[in-house]
Amino acid sequence: MRHDLSARAVDARELMDDPDADIAMLERTYERFRPVNALVSSPGLFYRRDIRPRARRGHIRILDVGAGGGDVCRMLAARLRRDGLSAEITALDADERAVRWAARHDDGSGVRYRCAFAEELLAAGEKYDVVFSNHVMHHLEPQELQGLLRDSAGLVGESGVVVHRDIARSRTAYALYGTLTGILASTVFRGSFIREDGLISIRRSYTTGELASVAPSGWTVRFGLPSRLELRWETTTAP
Ligand SMILES: C[S@@+](CC[C@H](N)C(=O)[O-])C[C@H]1O[C@@H](n2cnc3c(N)ncnc32)[C@H](O)[C@@H]1O
Repeated sequence: MRHDLSARAVDARELMDDPDADIAMLERTYERFRPVNALVSSPGLFYRRDIRPRARRGHIRILDVGAGGGDVCRMLAARLRRDGLSAEITALDADERAVRWAARHDDGSGVRYRCAFAEELLAAGEKYDVVFSNHVMHHLEPQELQGLLRDSAGLVGESGVVVHRDIARSRTAYALYGTLTGILASTVFRGSFIREDGLISIRRSYTTGELASVAPSGWTVRFGLPSRLELRWETTTAP
């Protein structure tokens, strides 16, 4: 089916967001986030550019908002350990099913799993050196996204950075993801929501222009090939 990608499909709901979603399918989805992220989210680049330089200056605190299965946090923990660097990493998610699954599948990484919204951490006066999210912005309407941006900027301390990363809505992203997950649908992604939800995610995602119009001043939008978006805020460059 050919979808119109000229506007965000705000009425399309991801299956994983259904409170009555099949739990086995949902858990398989959390598990399969790992290969998807390894393939499309460039976590290594994020680590080298935003995490490692800060951790080299001393112990840091990292917050992942909407951590899902927690695989990005565990990957960061492993890289920091390998490089002999020290950090406290919190994997935050508003869905307790995700938090339960992620905590149960931790491999002694030291990552802390927490079920809460970013605004609760802000109200508690918490501060982090790096606040990030991956594949969360498309879940949010512009007003909710602005709330997340306000909260995440308030959660970073001096020299801190906020990096929200996601897919950019485009025909290319839809075609590439559809082809790849179509090939792997009956093997790697069988019994999960990865294919269906991923395609809905792309339809719900923002474009560079849409994100720039939602973000308040001080935030920078970057586009990366083949179809990635990044929204950044640094305390050193913020107004
Ligand atoms: C598509 S998953 C991405 C998970 C993970 N970040 C990844 O890249 O694999 C989106 C996650 O964000 C969570 N989420 C959505 N809105 C949120 C919010 N406002 N605060 C915290 N978590 C949120 C959902 O519960 C879900 O687990």
